[in-house]
Amino acid sequence: MKEKIAVYPGSFDPVTNGHIDVVKRALVFVDKVIVAVADYSRKNLLFTKEERIDLIKTVYQGNKRVEVDSFNGLLVDYLKKKGINLIVRGLRAVSDFEYEFQMALANRKLSRDIETVFLMPGEEFFFISSSIVKEIASLKGNVSEMVPEIVAKALKKKFNY
Ligand code: PNS
Repeated sequence: MKEKIAVYPGSFDPVTNGHIDVVKRALVFVDKVIVAVADYSRKNLLFTKEERIDLIKTVYQGNKRVEVDSFNGLLVDYLKKKGINLIVRGLRAVSDFEYEFQMALANRKLSRDIETVFLMPGEEFFFISSSIVKEIASLKGNVSEMVPEIVAKALKKKFNY
């Protein structure tokens, strides 16, 4: 039988425990998740594309059900190139909804065959976002319960503490 694969796209600047929880939940209903790091982002990025990819690769080292890749250009073009029709995104709160809804509908307009599925992370991850993590780390706060150890180390290095 054909493997069911989902693409989990994002900036992952950097990957957090919330992202990791979403991947874990997706793996309940797909065989494989491709974590796709966007080369293009509207956001101001702290980590380079290579750094963001390397951090995720380290987290999933040895896990054959998670692949890490990057894409530039439109997300739907990346999915078409890969022959995949499923996007997974995490949805934490009402505040995420408008942005996610807009993206999902834009992607549907661009490609009718691609579906977006939203997964709710565990409530202990609801407050975690890459932006919050970066803000805390930039002020030398403790982010060890919000990100994997390797990411906490990388943040310390970026912010010199
Ligand atoms: O983690 P983010 O920054 O919320 O992820 C947003 C991302 C990268 C998934 C989104 O900006 C994206 O898909 N960018 C690629 C360009 C694209 O396809 N844009 C049209 C859909 S809105």
